Amino acid sequence: MAEHQEGLLQVQGLCVKYGRRKILHGISLNPIAPGRVTALLGPNGSGKSTFLRAIAGLTASNGQVILGGKDLASLSLGERAKLAAYLPQTLPPTVHLQVIEAIMVARRAGEAVSAERALQESADVLEELGIGSLALRYMDELSGGQRQLVGLAQALVRRPALLLLDEPLSALDLHYQFAVMDVVRRETQKRGMVTLLVVHDLNIALQRADDVVYMREGASLAQGGVMDVTTPEVLANVYGVRTRLEVCPRGLPHVLVDGIVEQRLQA
Ligand SMILES: Nc1ncnc2c1ncn2[C@@H]1O[C@H](COP(=O)(O)OP(=O)(O)O)[C@@H](O)[C@H]1O
Ligand SMILES: [Mg+2]
Repeated sequence: MAEHQEGLLQVQGLCVKYGRRKILHGISLNPIAPGRVTALLGPNGSGKSTFLRAIAGLTASNGQVILGGKDLASLSLGERAKLAAYLPQTLPPTVHLQVIEAIMVARRAGEAVSAERALQESADVLEELGIGSLALRYMDELSGGQRQLVGLAQALVRRPALLLLDEPLSALDLHYQFAVMDVVRRETQKRGMVTLLVVHDLNIALQRADDVVYMREGASLAQGGVMDVTTPEVLANVYGVRTRLEVCPRGLPHVLVDGIVEQRLQA
């Protein structure tokens, strides 16, 4: 079947330990088709960042991560980085580089392309993200939100098959939260990428992602289409809150939190 799996992401029995402490307890996902945005949701400490880092190959793990039929563990870190772009939760230390240079460096890191082409593609990505005006600014003079957008541009410009974004919206104002989600959706579809992202705001995730994976205590509790798996029971189990799920007249889902659950169900 491998030849029919172009771009498909498969995760089987992914385990991560820090020292003797088990953090991920053998996570398996249903295969994720290219062109879909999957939001990874769960409380603090549930293992979302660890999961993304393990998929990227940046944290030692057991289990399998297969992209388009290729076992990522069989690749060198450089080859793996070419396929999978990972944007960490914490912003990297800033360097005294112009934004456009920083993006060109990212573009040329994994692949030998001409400076002219790297410049053109870097400028295009900045335009797509609506930050063309930042091109000549210096990285160490940007706000946290602006740096986050540049980080996303660095990930996108590399044209990965797998895009892993850890809380890419956390430093952004409301306008850019939606703008970035829209760009991520559009690019994911256009390029046929698999995109996994951690988002804190449940409503943005439900309104802008195709699929969701709910995590708790290092395990995946539910996975599927946003409205197929999001129920008050699942949200009570994952977050320990009582909720109502409503669909607005335009068809967008909305979660209202009524309170906390006193006795949480066992995972
Ligand atoms: N480098 C590390 N060393 C030891 N424990 C860690 C490390 N990174 C994360 N953890 C632990 O792993 C668990 C999951 O963390 P993390 O993946 O960051 O969760 P999330 O992103 O969902 O908040 C937490 O209990 C955290 O304390
Ligand atoms: Mg995290």
